[in-house]
Amino acid sequence: MAITSPERRVWWNEPVERVELIWAGVALLWGLFMFFFMIAWHFIGQQNLSNEAYRVVPDAYVQKVEDFAQKYQVRDEAGTPVVKPPAGVDVYLLGRLWQWWPVLELEKGQSYRLHLSAADWQHGFSLQPININIQVHPGYEHVMTLTPTEVGEFGIICNEYCGIGHHTMTGKIIVVDKQGAK
Ligand code: CUA
Repeated sequence: MAITSPERRVWWNEPVERVELIWAGVALLWGLFMFFFMIAWHFIGQQNLSNEAYRVVPDAYVQKVEDFAQKYQVRDEAGTPVVKPPAGVDVYLLGRLWQWWPVLELEKGQSYRLHLSAADWQHGFSLQPININIQVHPGYEHVMTLTPTEVGEFGIICNEYCGIGHHTMTGKIIVVDKQGAK
């Protein structure tokens, strides 16, 4: 017995199932909710940064970070300068293949203007364990006010895939109290 081909049908002419319509509606509404909630996140929980960003030439930014590091370096940790700027100044951090540079040593309770940019690639600044995340692009200099609230060592990882050494791209912010203890 020959197998007969199915009756020819055009799928968009088929009657729509009620449950299908409901699910499509739910997905659409949820998408719209999430879209508008991106704006709300700027105000709730400070999860999205409504911060300042400026255009910058990557090489010029690298130069600024190097000048900053040279000016305030206090010691060395495995070849990376540890930089301790005075309270209240502008501090600079650079993302590049594959490190966050330099190590910053900041004082608890003091406010700093943190500048953040990349030399080469897109990186993801992720401060652990408090989980502050910022997309870092070469050509854009983010500036935000940072006030450390607890002493300790905070790791920075890269959470944007940036090549073969991505998983090794780490850095550190050390927060000390007024006496310099961590
Ligand atoms: Cu930088 Cu991943």
